[in-house]
Amino acid sequence: MTIPFNTATITEGDIALLHQSIANLHISGTGPFTKRCEALIQDRLGAPRALLTTSCTHALEMSALLCRLQPGDEVIVPAFTFVTSASAFALFGARPVFVDVQDDTLNLDPVLVEQAISPRTRAIVVVHYGGIAADIERLAAIAQRHGIILIEDNAHGLFHRWKGRHLGTFGAMATHSFHETKNVTCGEGGALVVNDPSLVERAEILREKGTDRSRFLRGQVDKYTWVDIGSSWIPSDMLAAILAGQLSRFESISAARLRIFDRYAAELGDWASQHGVRLPVVPEGNEHTAHLFSLRFERGEQRDRFIAHMKEHGISAVFHYQPLHLSTVGRQFGGREGQCPVTEQAGDCLVRLPLFVSLSDVQQDEVVARVLEFRP
Ligand SMILES: Cc1ncc(COP(=O)(O)O)c(C=O)c1O
Repeated sequence: MTIPFNTATITEGDIALLHQSIANLHISGTGPFTKRCEALIQDRLGAPRALLTTSCTHALEMSALLCRLQPGDEVIVPAFTFVTSASAFALFGARPVFVDVQDDTLNLDPVLVEQAISPRTRAIVVVHYGGIAADIERLAAIAQRHGIILIEDNAHGLFHRWKGRHLGTFGAMATHSFHETKNVTCGEGGALVVNDPSLVERAEILREKGTDRSRFLRGQVDKYTWVDIGSSWIPSDMLAAILAGQLSRFESISAARLRIFDRYAAELGDWASQHGVRLPVVPEGNEHTAHLFSLRFERGEQRDRFIAHMKEHGISAVFHYQPLHLSTVGRQFGGREGQCPVTEQAGDCLVRLPLFVSLSDVQQDEVVARVLEFRP
């Protein structure tokens, strides 16, 4: 049996929508499917504006530009996150300041964030790891107290709720990913949700190559021209068509993923506590969408043996983020060993199990059996 880590589910319905977009002959950006997806995301989040983008990375780059960064500005980022949560800001001249995460949820530690704030801090980027909410109310309060922009990198937590309020609605902006590995996907894609109304118009201009084409399309100006910096961050309407299908199935996708997540949690709990392995922590107040299921061993050597053990049995279990402060570029920004101990431990010791909608019960039986036979 070969069990991949992830496989996207593209239904007949998604394919029919793709065909429809081709038949419409509107295959460039900002077509009917783009509008449909944006309206759906805006309505669900109650956000002033959602803009589909070509990736979460590009949405992060747009948010960096919306911060109007000046040379020497600092942006606080978790040390435990994907490269582009930091590199998108470095691209426009900011200095990333790496902050460690909390030991339970692996989300940004508000106490350490407050300590890292300096007169140069322009923004805080918060990631909701695995779609489990960071201590977002506290982080939002810190940002507000210091007059700093809060950006949620919500690549994992689309439509997840924290105490009834959606993630992605706390920051001035929030970025989302529709990459193949995400719960809702169109292969490559993303969205920038703009919660601060004063940023909406410029966000539209940035995405339209620095032009006021959005206003032109709405009939607000009679021609469009170059008005600001910007780039080409609009996905094709063909991708938006697939995404529209996926978004319309959001509830069933989440239910299927949660069933798999809950079964792992129930069946691996005893084994995990017996062997000092940590499972995902879901603090009360989270209505999450089961983006990932991780195991955290005590030592890196155990994690590496585990990955090899699963591979021997045809199961792909994969590690996750490597500490950003210890990366080649992170070290150039002053990162050093021991600076973010929780991130360093998680980078060495965390592994993710297969979790995707079409994972069958028989496949999950096999994954669980192979985990239970492993002795760390
Ligand atoms: C937290 C986080 N932010 C951003 C990204 C980048 O997403 P994309 O591939 O859509 O650019 C990822 C990718 O996995 C991620 O995990």
